[in-house]
Amino acid sequence: MSRCPLGVCDGSGWIEDVEARSVTPCACRPQLVAGRRARSLSAVVPRRYRGVSFDRPPVSDMPAPQVEVVRRYVRKLDERLAEGRGLWLFGGVGTGKTTLAMLVSQTALEQGRSVAIYSLPALLARIRETFDDAAAGSYTAMLEQLTEVHLLHLDDVGAEKTSPWVLEQLYAIVNARYEAERSIMITTNLGREELAAQIGERTVSRLEEMCDVIPVMGRDRRRFEAVDRRASPSSADEPPTDDAPGLRLA
Ligand SMILES: Nc1ncnc2c1ncn2[C@@H]1O[C@H](COP(=O)(O)OP(=O)(O)OP(=O)(O)O)[C@@H](O)[C@H]1O
Ligand SMILES: [Mg+2]
Repeated sequence: MSRCPLGVCDGSGWIEDVEARSVTPCACRPQLVAGRRARSLSAVVPRRYRGVSFDRPPVSDMPAPQVEVVRRYVRKLDERLAEGRGLWLFGGVGTGKTTLAMLVSQTALEQGRSVAIYSLPALLARIRETFDDAAAGSYTAMLEQLTEVHLLHLDDVGAEKTSPWVLEQLYAIVNARYEAERSIMITTNLGREELAAQIGERTVSRLEEMCDVIPVMGRDRRRFEAVDRRASPSSADEPPTDDAPGLRLA
């Protein structure tokens, strides 16, 4: 059990009066509850993206103009978060969107900011789960947390179709953050109209107003890096073309 920050209770958030046989909440309790809540959010940079840095590949190999927008955002992180400004990274599969977004989240976490990092399909599944789970207000608590964190990082937005009910929850979160001027960062493979068809016009319209849009272009690094690795070492520096052996789709 952690210690009471006020030095009053035993760290449980409750003050027990043995003689009077009563228990009253300690003044530290709201802080304790908020801390527990924040800890139940996913605030971990996935292993693959841990330690990403502007100075090293893959980020140092990415197109400079896009990286520059992210770098400026990170440099002014305090201001950007205070203004509720976010980022919207879109582009083809395997172009580095998640890598750049994780760089932002990692920096925010290092600076002591609260960040919730979710792939949108996972978050929507979690919302569904907490709703089904009748246990002690977990659903409302989750929506509150998602509204309160300094940065909400949603990866793979629009990756799958889901029910109107769940999309309504997503709208509620985005709208609450929009009204409170809190930052959201998204990555998506979809263009604006496709995204609106997938998650709803009202949600996309708010995200559009809140975020700076960064197109992340290029080839699919997963596919081509794997081809490069399989290719002979002497050809590893040559960019593969669609005529390269093994690249033709069946
Ligand atoms: N410019 C680059 N140079 C080298 N490797 C890169 C580059 N961009 C991305 N990568 C690598 O390619 C892989 C895919 O990157 P990432 O997951 O960020 O892509 P993504 O755009 O989010 O893809 P998806 O749309 O499928 O989610 C990672 O292993 C990453 O390190
Ligand atoms: Mg991604």
